[in-house]
Amino acid sequence: GIKIVTIGGGSSYTPELIEGFIKRIKELPVKEIWLVDIEEGKEKLEIVGNLAKRMVEKAGIDCKVYLTLDRREAIKDADFVTTQFRVGLLDARIKDERIPFENGLLGQETNGAGGMFKAFRTIPVILDIVKDIKELAPNAWLINFTNPAGIVTEAVLNYGNFEKVVGLCNIPVHTQMDCASLYEKDISEFKFQFAGLNHFVWYKVWDKKGNELTADLWDKRQDKENLGVKNIVSINYDYDQIKNLGMLPCDYHRYYYLQDEMLAEGLKSYKERGTRGEIVKRVEAELFELYKDVNLKEKPKQLEQRGGAYYSDAACELISAIYNDKGIIMAVNTRNKGAIADLPYNSAVEISSYITASGPKPITFGKFPNAGQRGYIQLMKAMEELTVEAAVTGNYYTALQAFTTNPLVPGTTIGRKVLNELLDAHEKYLPQF
Ligand code: NAD
Ligand code: G6P
Ligand code: MN
Ligand code: MN
Repeated sequence: GIKIVTIGGGSSYTPELIEGFIKRIKELPVKEIWLVDIEEGKEKLEIVGNLAKRMVEKAGIDCKVYLTLDRREAIKDADFVTTQFRVGLLDARIKDERIPFENGLLGQETNGAGGMFKAFRTIPVILDIVKDIKELAPNAWLINFTNPAGIVTEAVLNYGNFEKVVGLCNIPVHTQMDCASLYEKDISEFKFQFAGLNHFVWYKVWDKKGNELTADLWDKRQDKENLGVKNIVSINYDYDQIKNLGMLPCDYHRYYYLQDEMLAEGLKSYKERGTRGEIVKRVEAELFELYKDVNLKEKPKQLEQRGGAYYSDAACELISAIYNDKGIIMAVNTRNKGAIADLPYNSAVEISSYITASGPKPITFGKFPNAGQRGYIQLMKAMEELTVEAAVTGNYYTALQAFTTNPLVPGTTIGRKVLNELLDAHEKYLPQF
């Protein structure tokens, strides 16, 4: 049987993961699921872990759920380790978002100054987890959702020197679901090609016969509401600029292409309702109240209020594809290996890949059709590299360089101020600085 270990098991997303394993139990014989958390998350782990146990029991499958604060005991002999932890929990996220906003910059979980700080807190922890895996479960795959997922994958590949890692995001999944619903067809009727970085990925789409639908989909998406993920306001892109690219953007490109509008909207929302982290805190409290109910034995509908809905289901799909050597195509964060000609061979990229027993095989994409894409993505990758280096070394000037390189930090003077304030606010979780 398969042993799964989930680090950050107290996450409110865990029921979706459990549902995903239950659904696939015939093709993916999971015997043990170990939910791991830390002292700070003990209560969340208890509540969500007990729901997980009820779900598995109701399903009547031959699988046992374990709850533990002992990461090393859990990792021993694991087949798959999934990571969905948040260093400092939502209070740290709220600081990542509030401090930039207070300085007139975008405050966002994975983009701009806040995203870089989430990386600074997360990377030392993920590199420790990698050490444990190498020692205690050398054959295991690490499936990471912890944000910023692309930067974390970059760190594991190039500083953890660990190849069996796959980073996962729900954006490609959600994008495909939106396309299918616009055409009122099944996802399997389309062929997608994603290429870029996590939360900075573009895509093209074809029908089954090989007719390209990219431009048509762009037309279909215009003025449609309820597209995209819950955590991003869907301000319309400039129609012609995107048309001219020849590829469609992801939801997160708005923070760059519509920088002014998104900043204004973000500041307005911050003043009216607080940060997204504070909103999520309320959603989470509501979810955990539901989870406490001993009569609840399934994933509640309300989980769809979270921006990350469907990512854990994608994780189960990915694990099954590796286990069963399926060769299906999924968009994942993996080593580039030349697939995107405009980026270094060793970079982590988010790209459509064949998922096999020996991991993702990125599908050759080539060069970006547009020099605007090439220039932007090379800048973003440089920013990611600096962010990882700063997270590992704790070097202040590398962090300042990462800030200065980030398009959402308009210059070194304000960058230094926000950097200093964030370093101060997060001192407890940044032993390396
Ligand atoms: P959360 O705040 O509920 O945190 C999850 C758990 O992690 C908590 O129970 C916490 O105690 C625990 N934790 C913190 N530090 C830990 C450590 N060192 N070791 C083990 N556990 C630790 O977070 P959430 O809102 O459920 O999100 C979880 C993570 O998944 C975040 O990093 C988030 O950004 C990410 N996420 C990613 C995607 C994606 O598209 N890749 C989608 C949704 C969420
Ligand atoms: C999106 C992203 C995730 C991110 C989430 C935030 O789906 O792909 O990486 O974590 O939204 O959602 P939240 O509900 O926490 O704001
Ligand atoms: Mn994501
Ligand atoms: Mn949608």
